[in-house]
Amino acid sequence: MPKAKTFYQCQSCGYTSPKWLGKCPDCGTWNSLVEERKEPVSRRASLVTPARKIEPLPLSSITGAYAQRTSTGIKELDRVLGGGVVKGSVVLVGGDPGIGKSTLLLQALSGLSKQHGKVLYVSGEESPEQIKLRAERLSIDSDEIILLSETSLESIIETASKVSPKVMVVDSIQTVYMEELISAPGSVSQVRECASKLMLFAKRSDIPVFLVGHVTKEGAIAGPRVLEHIVDTVLYFEGDRGHSYRILRTVKNRFGSTNEIGVFEMSDAGLKEVENPSELFLLERPFNVSGSTVVASLEGTRPVLVEIQSLVSQTVFGMPRRTAIGVDFNRVNLLVAVLEKKAGLFLGGMDIFVNVVGGIRIVEPAADLGIIATIASSQKDIPIDPRTFVFGEVGLSGEIRAVTQPEVRIREASKIGFKRVIMPLGNSEKIKNAFGIEVTGVKNVETTLEILLT
Ligand code: TYD
Ligand code: MG
Repeated sequence: MPKAKTFYQCQSCGYTSPKWLGKCPDCGTWNSLVEERKEPVSRRASLVTPARKIEPLPLSSITGAYAQRTSTGIKELDRVLGGGVVKGSVVLVGGDPGIGKSTLLLQALSGLSKQHGKVLYVSGEESPEQIKLRAERLSIDSDEIILLSETSLESIIETASKVSPKVMVVDSIQTVYMEELISAPGSVSQVRECASKLMLFAKRSDIPVFLVGHVTKEGAIAGPRVLEHIVDTVLYFEGDRGHSYRILRTVKNRFGSTNEIGVFEMSDAGLKEVENPSELFLLERPFNVSGSTVVASLEGTRPVLVEIQSLVSQTVFGMPRRTAIGVDFNRVNLLVAVLEKKAGLFLGGMDIFVNVVGGIRIVEPAADLGIIATIASSQKDIPIDPRTFVFGEVGLSGEIRAVTQPEVRIREASKIGFKRVIMPLGNSEKIKNAFGIEVTGVKNVETTLEILLT
């Protein structure tokens, strides 16, 4: 009998080493190497449906049929997928436990089954009775939703080939295992191999597969980052436990744009779509208090208005504290330096806290102007007019730089009732339609603060 080989594999990036190491040399994670065994059996014996004969084709002979999209019946989910589910694609849905991944996918399956017939829900975590309980809560009942409680990949693929559903969900990829691999379910080699087999299955059968992936404490999809490379689309389901809204974000998409978001609200009857997130994020906005303003940010193709808050207070200890929630920490430090140097604000002995309300995260530099404005407003204790909103990137010499698609942002704000916008001069000069909003173009931080805080 051939000797079984053991090796050590990093559970966060998939790096392998013949010896145990305390720190992964590849990704730098401590204590992440775990012993795994690989049987030297030929496990290439095909698990999946027999391969179609694949011939090379000229590009022009290929029709767009491959990218045909199927609507899930949930508009916010379709949006992050790039317009619907693509045939034969594999979508990974990651998120904290209890955030609503199973709920979302069950609702999506219900929508799909209504239009297209049979769908398959494979759960390695819950029994059919538990799934039924959730379905009752969501008022979902259908002959077309087939449930399977199974963790063996071989049986899952066998059943899926037999049922031949329109869409399959595997909840979760960490519970699925292949018998030929010795390592435990959830380990890097299991997760990676199972995901590749499911990918192969999806591509050969044209059945789209949704995989649920658990998230580690650090927020990455548990186990292998490699998983993100295998699949076509990666979605993250985020949200604050304390709030009822949830944000579905595209991290990778081979069939559409990334950075799209879908917004949902968790109610007692499942997830509800939020069509106008700006209204939701601005719901509890305080009026006429210092350190608060509204920024028009662009998430993918969608404008979202959010409130940024800052609190500047005297440092009690020698070392000033800087905290940023929802915006990049380094960006805030940079903007504080710009404010000190270019606007003459004294912030060296101040604690500064910046927060984006509603648990949403903004990565766009267009939020810079909002951060600058709220910090200055809090420092001087002068409120910013609540019907004014801002956007613009701030450069290191205090200049305000133009951003993309200003009109889209202005249109969104006009719907909610804003009256005035402070924006980069480079943008305002080219605006054709301001949707009834008074436009003020600014060139640098100093004039911005003069306009906003007097
Ligand atoms: P679930 O989909 O099981 O989360 P995940 O699969 O990501 O672990 O969602 C569980 C949470 O959602 C749980 O805390 C209860 C809540 N919930 C509602 O508030 N309303 C509902 O209708 C449902 C089904 C769940
Ligand atoms: Mg679940």
